[in-house]
Amino acid sequence: MVMSHEANNMKVIFLPFISTSHIIPMVDMARVFAMYGVDVTIITTKGNAAIFQKSIDRDFNRGRSIKTHVLEFPAKQVGLPVGVETFNADTPLDMSPKIYYGLAILQPQIEKLFEELEADCIVSDMFHPWTVGVAAKLGIQRIIFYAASVLSRSAVHTLEQHATHTRVDHDSEKFTMVGLPHKLEMTRLQLPDWMRKSNAYGQLMKMINDSATKSYGAVFNSFHDFEGAYEEHYKNAFGTKCWSLGPVSLWANQDVSDKSERGDTKVEEGEDSDLLKWLNSKKENSVLYVSFGSLNKFPLSQLVEIAHALETSSHDFIWVVRKNNDKEGEDEGFMEEFEKRVKESNKGYLIWGWAPQLLILENQAIGAMVTHCGWNTIVESMNVGLPMVTWPLFAEHFFNEKLVVDVLRIGVSVGAKEWRNWNEFGSEVVKRDEIGKAIGLVMENGKEAEEMRLRAKGLSDDAKKAILVGGSSHANLIQLIEELKSLKLQRLNGLCCC
Ligand SMILES: *[C@@H]1O[C@H](CO)[C@@H](O)[C@H](O)[C@H]1NC(C)=O
Repeated sequence: MVMSHEANNMKVIFLPFISTSHIIPMVDMARVFAMYGVDVTIITTKGNAAIFQKSIDRDFNRGRSIKTHVLEFPAKQVGLPVGVETFNADTPLDMSPKIYYGLAILQPQIEKLFEELEADCIVSDMFHPWTVGVAAKLGIQRIIFYAASVLSRSAVHTLEQHATHTRVDHDSEKFTMVGLPHKLEMTRLQLPDWMRKSNAYGQLMKMINDSATKSYGAVFNSFHDFEGAYEEHYKNAFGTKCWSLGPVSLWANQDVSDKSERGDTKVEEGEDSDLLKWLNSKKENSVLYVSFGSLNKFPLSQLVEIAHALETSSHDFIWVVRKNNDKEGEDEGFMEEFEKRVKESNKGYLIWGWAPQLLILENQAIGAMVTHCGWNTIVESMNVGLPMVTWPLFAEHFFNEKLVVDVLRIGVSVGAKEWRNWNEFGSEVVKRDEIGKAIGLVMENGKEAEEMRLRAKGLSDDAKKAILVGGSSHANLIQLIEELKSLKLQRLNGLCCC
């Protein structure tokens, strides 16, 4: 008979997907598991490990049992330049299939590692549906990790079940999603393309859906006060367990060194950095933070509209901008001049590339943000309680907008009408007036803005409580770890069947 203390040393392997927006929350979640005594190994490739390794080193030096197992990405074999192994805004379109191919080549190696490392549980990003079979073979639990909201999973499920989106006449006619805890409306144009017509991505989503059903459970970077009603919906829809374990960024990154060195940032953002000096010179709640995440690019026509709206608004701003590689030169001139003007007037601060978002968001000067509704950003802005202008673009962003604007009522929609692929410009250009109007609604001192701000602050308090002893995410984590330990014990004693 194996005694319970032998099950205490529990090994959990985390396998993130190779895109920055999936890696960051999963690594934070892995770090939280290690904080609570779990032996954690993160498997990824060298280039992707570079995104987060410093945090792991710091945690290791804090005495936690956490490490990265680094694999060599088969760049040569798939015909890619060394170092191109992550999906982000700079990934050239024609290289994407090769990156997928490289990942597929690594699969047998990863499979072998699960066995060699004697994992007790695999936490796998949704984009590795094959891990469900491996876990079954090894007789261990597989937990699916979504870098998305619970609501978005519920929405997709309910649309597949009831197909209300197929019962309207036009792509821009509203339909209601039935069977959800709230009455939410959308149009077909706002749905991902694979939900409108079948394509290869839809096939992958079906595999992911199947793998979710066969998983032991699902983990989300969310918390009960944020999406509790949808946790219940998920459990019923998929017939598995479901734990909200967030906000993981708040939980895992508790000091300045954690916050500033997170993600791709190449710059050290100490107290004396230009950016923080600029922010600290601004009045409370006076600055708008504008960011569209790590995958987005806009055509020049859209940049012009945003620039105009920002310059003519009565608020200061920080805008995180990405270079376009589009019609090169054209954008550059426009943006350079814009940057020069707003720098001179001290009205705006442009950040090219990756921004130390956690540090910016928690600065007292920030009053609201404009967001593409990427899930990480929504959760991070909730940590600090900011109202939002929502501007969904691709992936599950339009579902997330519903949560922010209709369910939680902490945001104003810019009125985006059309879903696009992450690597396409799309055909929609949101006009300066629309942008300006939405900015005014969240930044100006009206009653509505004030109420939104209060609700957002309330959720921020809830977020902070969720990860403390007695909080919902804290309780979920402890319960999940205990459950996995007891399953390990059963397995060691030959009693378990997964
Ligand atoms: C996804 O899984 C759920 C739960 O098993 C099921 O009800 C649904 O039909 C599946 N959807 C697809 C498209 O396979």
